[in-house]
Amino acid sequence: MSIKIEEVKSTTHAQRVAPHSHVKGLGLNNDGSAILPISNGLVGQDKAREAAGIAVSLIKSKKLSGRAILLAGAPGTGKTALAMAVSQELGPKVPFCPMVGSEVYSSEVKKTEVLMENFRRSIGLRIKENKEVYEGEVTELTPEETENPHGGYGKTISGIIIGLKTTKGTRTLKLDPSIYESVQKEKVSVGDVIYIEANSGAVKRVGRSDAYATEHDLEAEEYVPLPKGEVHKKKEIVQDVTLHDLDVANAKPQGGSDIMSMMGQMLKQKRTEITDKLRKEINKIVNKYIDQGIAELVPGVLFIDEVHMLDIECFTFLNRALESTIAPIVIFATNRGYSKIRGTDVNSPHGIPLDLLDRLMIIRTLPYSTQDITHILNIRSNVEGIDISTEANHYLADVGTRTSLRYAVQLLTPAKILAKTNGKTTITREEVEEIESLFLDAKASAKLLREQSEKYLK
Ligand SMILES: Nc1ncnc2c1ncn2[C@@H]1O[C@H](COP(=O)(O)OP(=O)(O)O)[C@@H](O)[C@H]1O
Ligand SMILES: [Mg+2]
Repeated sequence: MSIKIEEVKSTTHAQRVAPHSHVKGLGLNNDGSAILPISNGLVGQDKAREAAGIAVSLIKSKKLSGRAILLAGAPGTGKTALAMAVSQELGPKVPFCPMVGSEVYSSEVKKTEVLMENFRRSIGLRIKENKEVYEGEVTELTPEETENPHGGYGKTISGIIIGLKTTKGTRTLKLDPSIYESVQKEKVSVGDVIYIEANSGAVKRVGRSDAYATEHDLEAEEYVPLPKGEVHKKKEIVQDVTLHDLDVANAKPQGGSDIMSMMGQMLKQKRTEITDKLRKEINKIVNKYIDQGIAELVPGVLFIDEVHMLDIECFTFLNRALESTIAPIVIFATNRGYSKIRGTDVNSPHGIPLDLLDRLMIIRTLPYSTQDITHILNIRSNVEGIDISTEANHYLADVGTRTSLRYAVQLLTPAKILAKTNGKTTITREEVEEIESLFLDAKASAKLLREQSEKYLK
């Protein structure tokens, strides 16, 4: 068996990053110390940032695979923000797969299957192949149109003519109409340097040709030299995929080929079945590629937020999976202290079994000072385009110190809406006070429940 790699599409997981969009990295000096009071969107929390920085260097030097890190701290102390910063530091070539513990409880898929899939999303493979390509600067790009053969209105594309120039000369290629789509997807225009894979027809835009470098572009462009050699040649092509991408590309659509299951597939938008057998086979081939030097393993990060939501079955799976030769680095986050391991009657630190705890490096996040909270509120109001008076910000920071940073950050948007209703463009203390009286924070709510417990159903 050989595995398909050409058609592999990247299947990035939808990320819940909106509340952390201001986080651009860990904000560390070259010596690894945290830049204070703010850098890369991160405020304070210096010890945890420095520890995370060390973890990032270990991950980059591949000295951490099969190990795990636990971010532990009270709600709203920046655990998720830190994990996002780690992902930024690792850059786009290292897989980073975020998930929340509760995601494993789905009615359709087994818990361990959810974990396995995310494990494989977190393991990258850099594949280097010599491929036959056509490469050059685009000198011509003309779609060929014909009248619609079915007699309808409009025209259909029957082919595309592409002129490619290198230092050696120019060639004009007449290509299949299917290539027109990839040309459009890559937004190719005359003056770009591109290559077309001869076998798959995949088109890749390398950059803008040097010759056009005097143009005043609004966007930052990458300028590349005119390719050397012939237009038609062999070229080393580097492709970054994850094991999960390979699983998906090689899985067969579920079900038989009878009408009912075909209908089912159409309705359900093609669910594919990835079996253990397929994964084993893919691993075997991946290992062969690695031995042959064609591919290189890039262990990435699986981030499991709210890890206390996992149960003993999941923890057992994780322990075993981390033993495997192909394993990512797992980063957990939890706000639980000593608590019950789900699915058991056993208490354990952070609700995590001891044998897994044994593998962990623990990074603690500490509560913020009022000043830190003021900074963070400023950053978030900027990102969300919210105007807030200095007095209101300080008042809200006090609220945050008493309750939690998250609660304070969450009050920003409703306060803005209230300000608007009051005909103001800036949030003042008045709005913050009113909003605070309308919504309870977790602690206040818990207190109320305790005090008035007899009034609630049990
Ligand atoms: N040190 C920090 N610097 C800047 N923003 C932060 C920092 N810590 C937390 N935040 C922001 O505050 C909010 C709450 O933090 P979050 O990471 O969700 O806390 P946790 O995951 O520990 O409960 C988020 O919007 C987060 O991006
Ligand atoms: Mg969190």
